[in-house]
Amino acid sequence: MAKSCVWVICLFSLLLGHGVLELEASQHEYRNPQSMQSQSSKRQPYRTAYHFQPPQNWMNDPNGPMIYKGIYHLFYQYNPYEAVWGNIVWAHSTSTDLVNWAAHPPAIYPSHPYDINGCWSGSATILPGEKPAILYTGINPQNRQVQNLAMPKNLSDPFLIEWVKSPYNPILIPTFENNIDPSSFRDPTTAWLGPDGRWRMIIGSNRNGRGMALLYRSKDFIHWKKAQHPLHSSKDTGMWECPDFYPVSNSSKNGFDSSVIGSGIRHVLKASLGGTGHEYYTVGTYNPENDTYVPDKGFVDDSRGLRYDYGKFYGSKTFFDSAKNRRVLWGWISESTNATIDLTKGWSGLQAIPRKLWLDKSGKQIMQWPVKEIEKLRTNQVNLPSKVLIGGSVLEVAGVTGSQADVDILFEISDYEKADVLDPSWTNPQELCSRNGASVKGGLGPFGLMVLASKDLQEYTAVFFRIFKVQTNYVVLMCTDLSRSSLHLDYDKPTYGAFMDLDPVREKLSLRSLIDHSIVESFGGEGKACFTARVYPTMAIGDGAHLFAFNNGTENVTISSLTAWSMKKAQIN
Ligand SMILES: *[C@@H]1O[C@H](CO)[C@@H](O)[C@H](O)[C@H]1NC(C)=O
Ligand SMILES: *[C@@H]1O[C@H](CO)[C@@H](O)[C@H](O)[C@H]1NC(C)=O
Ligand SMILES: *[C@@H]1O[C@H](CO)[C@@H](O)[C@H](O)[C@H]1NC(C)=O
Ligand SMILES: *[C@@H]1O[C@H](CO)[C@@H](O)[C@H](O)[C@H]1NC(C)=O
Ligand SMILES: *[C@@H]1O[C@H](CO)[C@@H](O)[C@H](O)[C@H]1NC(C)=O
Ligand SMILES: *[C@@H]1O[C@H](CO)[C@@H](O)[C@H](O)[C@H]1NC(C)=O
Repeated sequence: MAKSCVWVICLFSLLLGHGVLELEASQHEYRNPQSMQSQSSKRQPYRTAYHFQPPQNWMNDPNGPMIYKGIYHLFYQYNPYEAVWGNIVWAHSTSTDLVNWAAHPPAIYPSHPYDINGCWSGSATILPGEKPAILYTGINPQNRQVQNLAMPKNLSDPFLIEWVKSPYNPILIPTFENNIDPSSFRDPTTAWLGPDGRWRMIIGSNRNGRGMALLYRSKDFIHWKKAQHPLHSSKDTGMWECPDFYPVSNSSKNGFDSSVIGSGIRHVLKASLGGTGHEYYTVGTYNPENDTYVPDKGFVDDSRGLRYDYGKFYGSKTFFDSAKNRRVLWGWISESTNATIDLTKGWSGLQAIPRKLWLDKSGKQIMQWPVKEIEKLRTNQVNLPSKVLIGGSVLEVAGVTGSQADVDILFEISDYEKADVLDPSWTNPQELCSRNGASVKGGLGPFGLMVLASKDLQEYTAVFFRIFKVQTNYVVLMCTDLSRSSLHLDYDKPTYGAFMDLDPVREKLSLRSLIDHSIVESFGGEGKACFTARVYPTMAIGDGAHLFAFNNGTENVTISSLTAWSMKKAQIN
């Protein structure tokens, strides 16, 4: 508390133009660019080269991502003082390419009773006339969650350094008449405009275990009225954090502004479930006349539903990139270590590489792919000619920096005869991947990559496929197995799994992994299943990190192509 006052005073003197000394003092308080960089990579083996992270301290949800006057903005939940959660402000960085980022002073920080105990997550909306507005959750002196509005101070400043809070704040408070639990009322979305000229937005909530997206409407973006019915809810899902709602097309990979409706437009509703630490989404029909949203048949509308990412990925949020006509997804990667360890290393949390996101042509799922811009970090390309990976073999991919790489591999199977039969009781892919880790031989698979691997294979993170037979069809299981990712005994080393909606007989079975010291982001089937792994190798660090392809099935598998690149370091904050 005291610290926060000191910091706020510093910033206020800066705002009032009291000179440069205060600026340096305040920057020294919350970010100290030299200190991390001078620490040798030996002492900080888990810092990344091209994932977004602040120089130090705690980070969680991405907030208010947007593009304004050609500049990408990322705000994020940040503790300016420690590597654990608390004192939350909106830290702020900007970029022209989503790869290299410059840090700015926090944009929104506790200053009024309505946000004095924290400035929590929220979203940006670009109002007509190219005017950004931020809606965010503030924590008031009674620790109630209220909603606030902030606008840029100077629209001519493309970096939008200074934000002014609305004199109408708080614009929404939880009331008992409205039957809203003041501790479950947060994370307003980007607003969209209905055909009646009124804005809509949703806020995450929970009533007796039923998670929901409360719907609000407004004519002027200041006065908001709760709709009688939530946009959507689902029983036993608990608190819906960071809901997201946006249009996608049934026939194009393009993205759309949140207000777009019309022929061929479907809607995606995503919730982050505080109770499970997982997210899920449905695709469905939104009717703006009566503000109903109905998930399409086949979507599971609870924590067992489809996820953007089956690994560590939470509090995510999309935005419409009007410069490239795409929808871009940001998501937070938390640590798997405890607070003592995080405090010792001085930082906690990263953002996943932003992903372009679109609806698969089947309409059955969302597809994701790292934004194209990240490819400009590729260097030292290595190509492997087509090669049979004999059952039980391992192949080192030499010539790339194993700790900092992008690898894209395409598998081909010629004989499906020996695929194991999928037991109908095996409905939980996570369990199936845990039970049958990378070392358990099957017919077709496990085959895939061992990344962040030590030379002697004592340590590795395995990303792999298994192919099962179901009557006359085949099913692909994708797994990420962390059980051997680190010699640290007591760190969390889970196994992740998902069935892929992919017919290996007719479609390409591809795997791309982005490797960055302590993060592995893997994309199966050109973006059909994504896994983020948070790992802490002890031997596979720096030059000790290697990359292998492997096949631990009995049957041969062909690598029809393999391309790998070392990745250059991005300029981040
Ligand atoms: C607004 O931003 C522009 C561009 O950075 C700058 O030139 C101008 O001085 C700013 N105006 C004020 C009032 O600060
Ligand atoms: C997309 O939706 C439009 C309008 O509902 C429909 O006519 C069209 O057939 C759909 N296209 C695909 C590929 O499903
Ligand atoms: C909303 O409107 C749609 C289309 O007119 C209709 O099918 C649906 O039943 C309506 N829902 C409610 C709850 O009124
Ligand atoms: C955190 O983990 C470390 C190493 O595994 C252990 O020594 C320490 O006791 C743990 N701290 C807490 C607070 O659990
Ligand atoms: C492949 O199987 C062998 C024998 O079970 C095991 O030693 C090795 O670790 C496995 N490879 C992977 C990647 O798990
Ligand atoms: C796997 O490939 C090797 C080398 O091409 C070949 O000798 C072997 O017979 C193949 N095994 C099977 C089961 O097809």
